[in-house]
Amino acid sequence: MSTINYSEKIPNNVNLSEDRTLQRALEGWQPNFINWWDDVGPEGSTNHEVYLRTAVSVDPQGWAQFGHVKMRDYRWGIFLNPGEAERKIHFGDHKGEAAWNDVPGEHRANLRRIIVTQGDTEPASVEQQRHLGLTAPSMYDLRNLFQINVEEGRHLWAMVYLLHKHFGRDGREEAEALLQRQSGDQDNPRILGAFNEKTPDWLAFFMFTYFTDRDGKFQLSALAESAFDPLARTTKFMLTEEAHHMFVGESGVSRVLQRTAQVMNELKTDDPAKVRAAGAIDLGTVQRYLNFHYSVTIDLFGADQSSNAAIFYSSGLKGRYEEGKRTDDHVLKGQTYKVLEVQNGQLVEKEVPMLNALNEVLRDDFITDSVAGVNRWNKVLEKAGIPTRLTVPHKAFNRQIGALAGIRLSPEGRVVNAAEWEAKKAEWLPTPEDFAFVASLMGRVVEPGKFANWIAPPVMGINRQPVDFEYVRFG
Ligand SMILES: [Fe+2]
Ligand SMILES: [Fe+2]
Repeated sequence: MSTINYSEKIPNNVNLSEDRTLQRALEGWQPNFINWWDDVGPEGSTNHEVYLRTAVSVDPQGWAQFGHVKMRDYRWGIFLNPGEAERKIHFGDHKGEAAWNDVPGEHRANLRRIIVTQGDTEPASVEQQRHLGLTAPSMYDLRNLFQINVEEGRHLWAMVYLLHKHFGRDGREEAEALLQRQSGDQDNPRILGAFNEKTPDWLAFFMFTYFTDRDGKFQLSALAESAFDPLARTTKFMLTEEAHHMFVGESGVSRVLQRTAQVMNELKTDDPAKVRAAGAIDLGTVQRYLNFHYSVTIDLFGADQSSNAAIFYSSGLKGRYEEGKRTDDHVLKGQTYKVLEVQNGQLVEKEVPMLNALNEVLRDDFITDSVAGVNRWNKVLEKAGIPTRLTVPHKAFNRQIGALAGIRLSPEGRVVNAAEWEAKKAEWLPTPEDFAFVASLMGRVVEPGKFANWIAPPVMGINRQPVDFEYVRFG
């Protein structure tokens, strides 16, 4: 079951050839996927040979193989982690019953919605990132961008397989629609807000892969607990790939900070204008980008109180992050959780039934994980002797979804009036001038071992290759 069959058109470890109807349906979708990749995938990349990892097994030791491939020849396939014999549902109203290998009729609509919503984010980010290859700060970074792009494509395959195999005609229609919606499209946008935002430059890309791919980690972790076993098994394998995406974001921002600190020390200045004049990104701009990506990403967890979240949990469709490690009853009836709301112009905490607050629970887990990495960024500044520290804004800052939507709040969490918001907005969120400045730094540096002036080189290369390895061969 866990060996991957590469002799087939669609590499897989799910014995696809034993189900001719399914195999034909997926082989029918495959050329549409390639057309989508050609239309809105990485711009101008068709002839590049990229040093990519390809999954060759789901064994955590040695699952990937590295080599130069043209991206449109990447072996996108269907890989599920091995199933556990006798796996039991471990939360919700069905706790203790056997996990499902098929979709129970009464949960069909909700499961389809969950899978489509997850699936929609995967091609969306490829679309958002499609122009970035033209302004890569190095060949190493270009390779990492492309690695993420092909793996998001594979994550789309993972969800499309579930739709085709388990949802009949509806599933096939949803699989088509996943290739038709487009990030930022006026008439047919992607489902979730953050996936319709632009990723205009590499600082935005690093923030996106740090924060928004981490949203992916938490959503996938919650789905990896699902009673619907094929969903649990496929999301577990996706998480293996996801780790690299967040690494690219975390190390990318670290390298920006390292370079900025170096310039500040050389010039003995903390004046943003002088830092910019020297071609590095001032810390204020980094903080504003962080505020934006953080607030847009925490919106992805949904409304702080949600009856759908309660239904998804109680019916076993979606668990909590690390459900298995928690020591409560895994049913949560009668338990409460604190959410925020505004009363008389002040933020106040309110106890609500925990089942209804599970979006907030997942958001808070995400926040804890995010803050840990921001602290690691601050270590870079500390080590360089720079006193400035980055912080995540208050979780009610700049929110568009849930009870906190539209509240005017400073990043520290102080409710402000319209006049103060207008006056300070440019200190808190990236301005058109910030975007224009960062855009002005985005050249294209692609000689092996060379790096743009605004970013430090990485400590080491990919797969133990040297930093100046030829990660991309331009055809
Ligand atoms: Fe993904
Ligand atoms: Fe990702």
